[in-house]
Amino acid sequence: MKIVLGSDHGAYELKEELKAWLSEHNYHFEDIGTFNGERCDYPQVARTVCEQIQTGAAERGILLCGTGIGISIAANKFAGIRAALAHDHYTARMSREHNNANVLAMGGRVIGSEVAKEILETWLATEFEGERHQRRLDQIQSFESPAPVVSKV
Ligand code: RB5
Repeated sequence: MKIVLGSDHGAYELKEELKAWLSEHNYHFEDIGTFNGERCDYPQVARTVCEQIQTGAAERGILLCGTGIGISIAANKFAGIRAALAHDHYTARMSREHNNANVLAMGGRVIGSEVAKEILETWLATEFEGERHQRRLDQIQSFESPAPVVSKV
């Protein structure tokens, strides 16, 4: 499984900690930045990570910003992306079992790095349950390509 991860300046330090954890646990990953603590725009980070998933270059993404909110909102604008903002184990586990989340978002100003590592471990290890949950994901996916608006005459 290839993982792609990125953050803005609000979670640069958390990204570095998670990278070290991924290396220690032999995960195959790519860091797309940011590479320092200078201000940058999280929508561009989300875009780079999501496009890699859309093209199949990576299977899972990790997106981090100050709260995790902005970057998860941005990620969920991309077709096929199911980004889950999680700051606890239960949410992380359910985001995989029920939502087949392919992106995990967290906030570097919200949680400590040890909690974030445990959340990430849970998220990476948990499988999607399929069945009734797939039907619901199909419904969500149907919202991505709305039928063209036909003008009334
Ligand atoms: C950057 O200051 C901050 O707004 C960003 O990291 C994130 O928290 C947005 O949702």
